[in-house]
Amino acid sequence: MANKNTNLQYAKNTKDDEFYTTYDTIENELSHYSKHFENKTVLCNCDDPFESNFCKYFLKNFNTLRLKRLICTSYGFSKVAGTQTKFIKSKRKNSGYVLDIEKFSELNEVFSDEYILKLLRFKNVIKELKGDGDFRSNECIEYLVQADIIVTNPPFSLFKELISEILTYKKKYLLIGNQNALTYKEIFPLIQKNEAWTGYQFGEMKFKVPNCSEPRKTRYWVDKDGQKWRSLGNAMWLTNLDIERRHKRINLTKCYNPIDYPKYDLYDAINVKKITDIPYDYEGIMGVPITIINKFNADQFDIIGEANHGSDNEYDLFKPTIGGKEIFKRILIKNKNPLPTKGKIKYED
Ligand SMILES: C[S@@+](CC[C@H](N)C(=O)[O-])C[C@H]1O[C@@H](n2cnc3c(N)ncnc32)[C@H](O)[C@@H]1O
Repeated sequence: MANKNTNLQYAKNTKDDEFYTTYDTIENELSHYSKHFENKTVLCNCDDPFESNFCKYFLKNFNTLRLKRLICTSYGFSKVAGTQTKFIKSKRKNSGYVLDIEKFSELNEVFSDEYILKLLRFKNVIKELKGDGDFRSNECIEYLVQADIIVTNPPFSLFKELISEILTYKKKYLLIGNQNALTYKEIFPLIQKNEAWTGYQFGEMKFKVPNCSEPRKTRYWVDKDGQKWRSLGNAMWLTNLDIERRHKRINLTKCYNPIDYPKYDLYDAINVKKITDIPYDYEGIMGVPITIINKFNADQFDIIGEANHGSDNEYDLFKPTIGGKEIFKRILIKNKNPLPTKGKIKYED
């Protein structure tokens, strides 16, 4: 049994998904959401208060956002845990801890880094948890129940689990994830029903990675201070907090013709190569690149499904090929109000 537990702990500890978010990434995105935080309890549940820039951001901006309460829970198996032991008297190895704060200053300003560091080190705001701080533990779920908005970058391997936990308790959220998650059967219907949408930064994102991370040929570097970094080309923010981006319409300038917009071999829909090529006058179903999700406006289009292998899940309707040639994954959309064709011949569908 002891062996089994040790192996399990080792497996828990060796997942290659500890990507630490930069302060700038958080500040840039969060600047679009300020109105949502007034008098709210924010939970960052994959966030070591000493290491996480989510925790730092919300502490620094606690009063300007008019937060009610901030809770950050850390995970005892985190590869960056441990640097803080001199400030926390930990009774057990691998225990998580919690920062739980309601009010710490009368000042209505953005607090300095020094002020935040002093607060973390000297005020009694951080306590040891009973368990390891796994966001799925009862102890952490109790914090989630008390929270209004969950904001974090979870391990990508647990993204689905975190989303389903948040949905079970009907909470608001703003999470960093990998765009691959958009077509998961747990996430796609949320996008389709306009219950979740992507935020602003979509694509490139750079992250600090722990010292023990293995070097890689691409998207990996070490800076002059010895800090290891990795970047992703397909990162995203996923949220159910309303933002202006989702109300912007895509300006459609092209009109349909059967040469530029051929139909798929196995499904009655046209292929559109680029978002800017979406014709304004096509009434049927159109297969468009997955990046549409970050430009999607539910007043302009309906999402019908996805086209990848034709078998990934119930939303994956067919494998996109044209004349036998495979086409990259597509999102299937329909224009809610196609415009009449201007000037030129109107081609029948
Ligand atoms: C991708 S890192 C991001 C950390 C931080 N949220 C940030 O953005 O900088 C994910 C963090 O979640 C922690 N973690 C891993 N499994 C967890 C779990 N089951 N529950 C809570 N945290 C977990 C990892 O140790 C790591 O610190």
